[in-house]
Amino acid sequence: MKSISRRDFLALSAKGAGAAVISTGLMGCDLLDGDDINIQFKHGVASGDPTSTAVILWTRVTPNENGNIKVVWEIATDSAFTNIIANGETLTTSARDYTVKVDAQNLSANTQYFYRFISNDKTSETGVTKTLPTGSVDKVKLAVMSCSNFPAGYFNVYELATQMNDIDAVLHLGDYIYEYARDGYASSNAASMGREVLPAGELFTLSDYRTRYAQYRGDESLQKLHSLTPFITVWDDHEVANDTYKDGAENHSEEEGSFETRKLAALQAYFEWLPIRPIADDNELEIYRSFQFGDLVDLHMLDTRVLGRDKQLDYADYQNSQTGEFDAVSFESDITDQTRTMLGANQLTWIQTQLATSTGTWQLLGQQVLMGKMNLPAAIGLQLMSVSEYAELGALAQLAARAQAEDPTLTQQELTYLQENQSKLTNEKIAQLQLPSIPYNLDAWDGYAYEREVIYGTAKAYGKNLVVLAGDTHNAWANNLKDINTQAVGVEFATSSVSSPGLEYYLDIPEQERLATEAGITDLVSDLQYCNLSDRGFMTVTFTTTQAKADWYFVDTIASKTFNEATSRRKSLTVAVNSNTISEPIQAV
Ligand SMILES: [Fe+2]
Repeated sequence: MKSISRRDFLALSAKGAGAAVISTGLMGCDLLDGDDINIQFKHGVASGDPTSTAVILWTRVTPNENGNIKVVWEIATDSAFTNIIANGETLTTSARDYTVKVDAQNLSANTQYFYRFISNDKTSETGVTKTLPTGSVDKVKLAVMSCSNFPAGYFNVYELATQMNDIDAVLHLGDYIYEYARDGYASSNAASMGREVLPAGELFTLSDYRTRYAQYRGDESLQKLHSLTPFITVWDDHEVANDTYKDGAENHSEEEGSFETRKLAALQAYFEWLPIRPIADDNELEIYRSFQFGDLVDLHMLDTRVLGRDKQLDYADYQNSQTGEFDAVSFESDITDQTRTMLGANQLTWIQTQLATSTGTWQLLGQQVLMGKMNLPAAIGLQLMSVSEYAELGALAQLAARAQAEDPTLTQQELTYLQENQSKLTNEKIAQLQLPSIPYNLDAWDGYAYEREVIYGTAKAYGKNLVVLAGDTHNAWANNLKDINTQAVGVEFATSSVSSPGLEYYLDIPEQERLATEAGITDLVSDLQYCNLSDRGFMTVTFTTTQAKADWYFVDTIASKTFNEATSRRKSLTVAVNSNTISEPIQAV
């Protein structure tokens, strides 16, 4: 049987778009069709990477035997498909895991479309998508998601997002899948929820990654969200392996084989399963790209993870294993090293050019890791103390200093408290309190300070309204972005996770201390304006000509399919145009 190469298929896909039915050039003997063939659409439909004239349409067929499968696609302005704008036919095979990706072109701007696929007399469900606007635009509303971990819980966050009917596009900032084995990270309740991962082992091969994507895309809530709204996606680390960098990962060892082979398999499966447009045929490595929402928003999607990133620094390399002493001088020298890169030279030059030349009111970066300076006292950052212990001992240390200086304003109550609690201030704890503030996550932009400063400098030099989006942390954050001279250069809004556990889990914060810890961390980190360390959720960001507004939405549980929005945790923050500073929304009167 003649097989279709991957390159042939992509060429067919690209050329198959348009108003006419395009012949695949492959004749009947190569095609599986007829009465013996049974086709199912088990993985729904999806659309992505909209422009003002085109959108990627996606589906996957599940045939009952292997071969070349013909798939017809249609895109129309009505759900009854009486006004078909473009259609075509294409082929899919096992060489691309029976996924179908079509770049439907010659569409109208700012228009809602309906699309579907037909194969061997079976018709897929109908998807809804929308092209980007051109010219003068009043409003753009984006939903922002990250870190959807199948075994960690139900995808109620995706379900909640399906209830919104005014979203222009979903930005998924990565960790769309996780690579761990069935007994791995965040899987303790997976069996009881019926969400144990497939395959059972950790993902290494193309077949492994494909199987995992197929399982995730069997999720009803995720399928529904894909069918309702175009996605614009970038990968983070777990689409390959935890803490990926350009030539390795924390969760990859030499005994596991070639990292490069694993990475290329992972990225191939990503391109097969996500409705993302390759920047060129067979280029499955470079995903940085821009989207223009008329004159209002220029969205620049970055890859801070796979393409150029140098290996992360590690605090363990700066801590004396005998004494615990921290070598702050060496650390400072390494972290500010101008040769350390997160984006790689080409991508850094590209984003500088985009920021300099794009003319939209808002310059929006869709990317993975936190950009704001998240410096915490080292006692907390190195997990030597909890936030509440740090606050308690810090207050005690202040009282002790005042007592030592014979401060006449000390009250009897304060002195009694000091006497009763002074034993907690051991020499070890006092030394820990005196450690400097350090970045809490060296995998984030804090670990690559030079390139962050280059981006800040570019935005500032050209007077741009910079809004940065981030995922990765599994918690919600809002930061004022300030350059090395503490000048405001933009703001950052970061989304919580769909289901992965956050800091409340890593720092083991008891439930009753979570709100106090959120307030405590917001106080301790000077540029931080807000955080939610407790809840799974997503964020919308709405742009107008006068402001950008972030709204965080959370669910009350991911342990049950029955859930409610946790409305008490809803949060809104805004940034006014030309202010580069976060503020509370102005209440309507
Ligand atoms: Fe994650």
